[in-house]
Amino acid sequence: MYTVRKVTDDLYWIGANDHRLALFENIFPIPRGVSYNSYLLLDEKTVLFDSVDWSATKEFLKNIEDVLDGRPLDYMVVHHMEPDHGGAVEEVCLRYPEVKLISSEQAFEIMRQIGFKAIDNHEQIIVKEGDTFSFGAHTYAFVEAPMVHWPEVLLSYDLKDGVLMAADAFGTFGALDGKLFNDEVNFDRDWLDDARRYYTNIVGKYGPFVQDVLKKAATLDIKYICPLHGPVWRNDFGYIIEKYDKWSRYEPEEQGVMIAYASMYGNTEHAAQALATELCEKGMTNVVVHDVSNTHMSQLIADTFKYSHIVLASVTYNLEIYPVMKNFIMDLEALNVQNRTLGIIENGTWACTVGDRIEEFVNERLKMVDVLNDRVTLNTSLNEANANDMHSLADAIIESMKNIEETKAKAKK
Ligand code: FEO
Repeated sequence: MYTVRKVTDDLYWIGANDHRLALFENIFPIPRGVSYNSYLLLDEKTVLFDSVDWSATKEFLKNIEDVLDGRPLDYMVVHHMEPDHGGAVEEVCLRYPEVKLISSEQAFEIMRQIGFKAIDNHEQIIVKEGDTFSFGAHTYAFVEAPMVHWPEVLLSYDLKDGVLMAADAFGTFGALDGKLFNDEVNFDRDWLDDARRYYTNIVGKYGPFVQDVLKKAATLDIKYICPLHGPVWRNDFGYIIEKYDKWSRYEPEEQGVMIAYASMYGNTEHAAQALATELCEKGMTNVVVHDVSNTHMSQLIADTFKYSHIVLASVTYNLEIYPVMKNFIMDLEALNVQNRTLGIIENGTWACTVGDRIEEFVNERLKMVDVLNDRVTLNTSLNEANANDMHSLADAIIESMKNIEETKAKAKK
C-alpha cells in the first residue's frame, strides 16, 4: 500500500496527487499541484467514498485493490459528481460488478448525462437530507449541501468516529505528497493562500449556501474533516471554520489594501506605487499591489476576499474601463463580492472617463461596496497638480479603517 494513508483504524485515504495538471478546471493555475481525495472504509461492509479524476485512476484503482486485500467492494458513496471526483465512478462499477451506489438523485442524473452506462447495472440507492445508512459498526448520516459546490452535493457524517466527509468544502489546491493531516503541514504558512484562492474562486459565489453548511456542521461532534482536496483536519477546527465563516459572509480577513492597477505605459503603475508608498509612510503597511495585466484573476479574487480595502487604478480605454480591469470587476460581480471599501485612481490623457464607469458599475452591480469620495484623477501622470488628491485618498483609506474598527468595537459592546 505504497501511497495509502490511514485516517482512522478502519478508514483509509486512497486518493492521488496530480502535479501534471497546469490549470484546474482548465482555468486556475496550480503550481503546487492538487490532490484528489478518496477514502475507503473497511467495516462489515466495504465502502468507497468518491473517486478521482480520470487522469489519476490507475493509482486510485491500485490503492482500492491494496486496501481491500481480496475483499469485495460493497458500496460506493458519491458525494459530488464534478469529474475531478466522479471521473472514475464508471470504472469502479466495471471492476466491481457487485458494488451498490449511494448518492443523491441529481448526482445519478449527472452520471447519466456524462454517459456512465455501467451504473445502470448496479443498485442505485438515493439518499437525502437526514437519511442514515449503516455499514456495520459505522452509520453515516447524509447532509445535503447544494451549491457547495454543485447542486447535487451531499456530505456525510460517521456517527461512530465523528468523521465528516466534506466534499469540496474545506478543500484546497496543493498536492499532499505523502502528508495527510493538517498538523503534518504548516497550513497557515504554506497552504492558506491556496485554500483561499480555491474557496473564493470556486465556491465564493455561494456564500449563503456555505453558511447553511457551517450551521449544520456546528451541530455535529466532528473529530475529522475529510475534504475532497488537500489535508484532512483532525484538530484546530476553529482555524479553518473561522476562515470559511469570514469568506462565506464576505467579511475581510484583514484590514489592509489591495491596489490593483491597469497601466499601459507605466504612469498609472507609478501612481499605484505612490499610493502604496504613502500608505506605508502613514503606518498602513498591510498593502499588496497587483498589475491586473499579469496577475492571474484567481489571485486578484483571493486578495479581494482577504483585504478590507481595494483600490482600482486604471487607464481609460475607448472611453471605457481598460479591458483587463473590466474583466476583474465583472468577476467581482460574478463571485458576489461585497462588503468592501473601494478607492479609485483614474487616468486619461484627453478624455478621462474610467472612474465614472467603474463607479457606475460598482454602484449598480456590487452589493455593500462603499466608494470613497476621494478619487484621484490623472491627466497622463502623477504630478504636483494631483499630488494632494493622492494624499487625500491615502488619508481617506486610513480614516475609513479607523471608522470600521470603531463600528466593530461598538457592535461588540
Ligand atoms: Fe473538486 Fe467541485 O470538485
